[in-house]
Amino acid sequence: MKKTVRDVDVDNKRVIVRCDFNVPLNDAGEITDDTRIVGALPTVEYLLEHGSAVVLLSHLGRPKGEPNPKYSLKPVAAALAERLRRDVWFKSVPTVVDDEIRAKAVSLKSGEVMLLENTRFRKEETDNDETFAGELASLADIFVNDAFGSAHRAHASTVGIARRLPAVSGFLIEKEIRFLGGALENPARPFVAILGGAKVADKIKVIESLLAKADTLLIGGGMAYTFLKSKGYGIGTSIVDENGVGLARSLLEKADRKGVELLLPVDVKAGRDFSNDTESACYGCDAIPPDRMGMDIGPGTTVRFVEKIKLAGTVFWNGPMGVFEMPNFAAGTKAVAEALAESKCVSVIGGGDSAAAAEQFGLAEKMSHVSTGGGASLEFMEGRILPGIAVLEDKEDKTE
Ligand code: 3PG
Repeated sequence: MKKTVRDVDVDNKRVIVRCDFNVPLNDAGEITDDTRIVGALPTVEYLLEHGSAVVLLSHLGRPKGEPNPKYSLKPVAAALAERLRRDVWFKSVPTVVDDEIRAKAVSLKSGEVMLLENTRFRKEETDNDETFAGELASLADIFVNDAFGSAHRAHASTVGIARRLPAVSGFLIEKEIRFLGGALENPARPFVAILGGAKVADKIKVIESLLAKADTLLIGGGMAYTFLKSKGYGIGTSIVDENGVGLARSLLEKADRKGVELLLPVDVKAGRDFSNDTESACYGCDAIPPDRMGMDIGPGTTVRFVEKIKLAGTVFWNGPMGVFEMPNFAAGTKAVAEALAESKCVSVIGGGDSAAAAEQFGLAEKMSHVSTGGGASLEFMEGRILPGIAVLEDKEDKTE
């Protein structure tokens, strides 16, 4: 168990908090989804209420180690100020830290907040450079990591800095570990994992990990066609991960050996072209015409998947069932999201597209937990050690 902000005295301390403010921006530079900002608020508010002066830091996008106004955290500072209902001091400093930033951090009082510029404006960030980590650490007395979405990155602002200061986790990381770790280590059963998304290769490790933990695996989305092909079905012009066909076959065999129920679509909704208004119809998975591409699970599959969700104690869901961004191919993903929202099971959504789908259908609030991590939540579910978490201080083991 990692120490959290509750385990250290933060009163009258300068606390530097690594958040994941890697939020989507539109062409006008406006934030289109502030879930990650909202996710950081409990920790920041706790620190402010407990007498800390708070320095926030984050990356945004991939500016490749160079200052780039397109990736400035300025809009985040404004959004934070609105959410926190207090000033958030921000200056766009290309080097992230300079004399003015140092002076500001030193003079920051309890209850005040400042936000640094995008840490990836310095190439030393992704190199986990010692000097840059030292510059960041010099701004505070305590380091809090609450950037679950970046916990799989060993960077200066996640790992390097943590080696130089007392380092604990924030409430978001604590919550992510509770739900994702709970699903892996001690799930209420039956434990059902629902996986979608396009490429089998991207999900292979998580499928393998879940084959050792879950009772049932439901496979939908683009990835399902690779599995159907591995069983010898014609899949028309559906997306296929040619290199993944062998992998899919061996995963099916593994599930069989382990006695894990693995359900593939029995029917699909397929269209002529990749567009919402394309001519489309539902076909059995053994009857997809050569000129049609599967773009959603069909009604028979949806009923089977929903049944499994209704009986589940825990569900982990990563990856949509179809092209949910197109209304005519959103039904399968929507039905899964609705079944999860209505179920009393522990429902955990891995970040990325399935989180976006739950949000699009207005159901995110009804889930037990929607992870703020995309890559990080997948790596966590693969059973990998996330360096940004591993480096934090452990709680003392009271059983010894
Ligand atoms: C994410 O969006 O998954 C995190 O913010 C990490 O971003 P990265 O993949 O650019 O490191």
